[in-house]
Amino acid sequence: MNDCTALRSALQALPRPTLAELFAADPARVDRLSTRIELAGGGIRFDWSKTHLDDAHAALFERLAAAMDFAGRRAALFAGDKVNVTEGRAATHTAQRGVGADVDVEEAMALHARMRALVDAIHAGLLGEVRHLIHIGIGGSALGPALAIDALARDVPRVDVHVVANIDGCALEAAFAACDPATTLVAVASKTFTTIETMTNAQSALTWLSESGVADPYGRVVALTAAPDKAVEWGVDETRVLPFAESVGGRYSLWSSIGFPVALAIGWEEFAEFLEGAATVDRHFRETDGLANLPLRAAFADQLYTRLRGCQTRACFAYDERLGLLPSYLQQLEMESNGKSVTLDGQPLAGPSAPITWGGTGTDAQHAVFQLLHQGTVTVPVDFIACVAPGDDLDPAHHRILLMNCFAQAAALMAGKPGADPARAYPGDRPSATILLDDLTPAALGALIAFHEHRTFANAVLLGINPFDQFGVELGKEIARSIDAGGVRFDPSTEALLQASGLA
Ligand code: F6P
Repeated sequence: MNDCTALRSALQALPRPTLAELFAADPARVDRLSTRIELAGGGIRFDWSKTHLDDAHAALFERLAAAMDFAGRRAALFAGDKVNVTEGRAATHTAQRGVGADVDVEEAMALHARMRALVDAIHAGLLGEVRHLIHIGIGGSALGPALAIDALARDVPRVDVHVVANIDGCALEAAFAACDPATTLVAVASKTFTTIETMTNAQSALTWLSESGVADPYGRVVALTAAPDKAVEWGVDETRVLPFAESVGGRYSLWSSIGFPVALAIGWEEFAEFLEGAATVDRHFRETDGLANLPLRAAFADQLYTRLRGCQTRACFAYDERLGLLPSYLQQLEMESNGKSVTLDGQPLAGPSAPITWGGTGTDAQHAVFQLLHQGTVTVPVDFIACVAPGDDLDPAHHRILLMNCFAQAAALMAGKPGADPARAYPGDRPSATILLDDLTPAALGALIAFHEHRTFANAVLLGINPFDQFGVELGKEIARSIDAGGVRFDPSTEALLQASGLA
């Protein structure tokens, strides 16, 4: 038996005290498992005390991390080594925030300078009046911008941004309806500049501009891509192509030129604060060892629930309307990164990999799905995310009720409530973590996202998998292409559906 297998068996064999017992046994538990990260304009408190992590688990998980060469893989990530082994590429998203190998940081800074110049030129009116931006992209080229803009640019954005991802024309039509073509720019965001949904939507946006009387539709297009040659070939003027490095993965690309609409909406200074918030977490992750390392601590708890206790899902509830898109963002980050079943050396993974990430917004979700969290037959570890400072200017009662509900749900999940009537009893001992932001500043959002990136990476290291490829998305695309090409026979069900919809 190798070290890792022995450690996993030892972890599995540990006693399982309840949360109540853990708190009773250690009066300092809250302090030991609640840690703040300080940022410009307010910090973030990460409270993992309501999880079942205890000293015994932490000690074994630290040994597992060492056996899985956590320090070596982390150093390789920041050094710009080819950590994405299946594609022979580095993963240089931290360099976009200024933390990484000098050569990667320098390249990122040069590309940011180019992006800033375009943002400043647009703000200065050098491209004429720009009131709207239709940002066309999908997956990692859309979810990050949509989240960041919804979180940070609600109050009078400098440019009104509409993110369109879906190929369903209803999505693009809604953006057209909200924009004045004469004052609209179109950003085509695609790492590969080949994604069929994005390229089809981009073509339709050009048609819309042209049919609306815009003289030079291509002159209104900005391309955000790691394939600048393809963008130029497609018709975008080189001066409006904002490249980013091939080594920045799609779901990690918000920090690169894919963040252009964010910078346009909130301004460059705020975008720089957003990057710096993420960099603060990068430095913490790179320089802190063991349980004190917050993303690694979270990954220990994730492994405890997924691998040791068979939890198949993990939920995230943002008790903040502005973070309503966070669960979708985390779904791609975690499920596309760690939804794998082979190890780094191509062997079958001996156990579950990523849980299904899901979630919603509090308090809405309380009135819809929390029944299962409190009394269902499965245990769902929950992350609660909230901000101390309100995002609204209404009666403070709104924010007070929001926060008290957030804390009450976590307390209720843990405490439970016995009762003679089983239908009315709550089992309790259900785990949660709470991430409490002082305020939803650009820096705090950057830090929050970077925390989840590193948590995802730490989970991948503990699992021994590559979080940076996504071959699982290819087969469906391939089959769609062969449907388009025709002449291929499929299974009887698919054939019948193609017939029924007129596609065959
Ligand atoms: O299909 C999955 C995926 O490749 C994601 O990883 C990526 O974020 C998305 O598609 C969009 O790809 P692109 O930015 O190349 O258009």
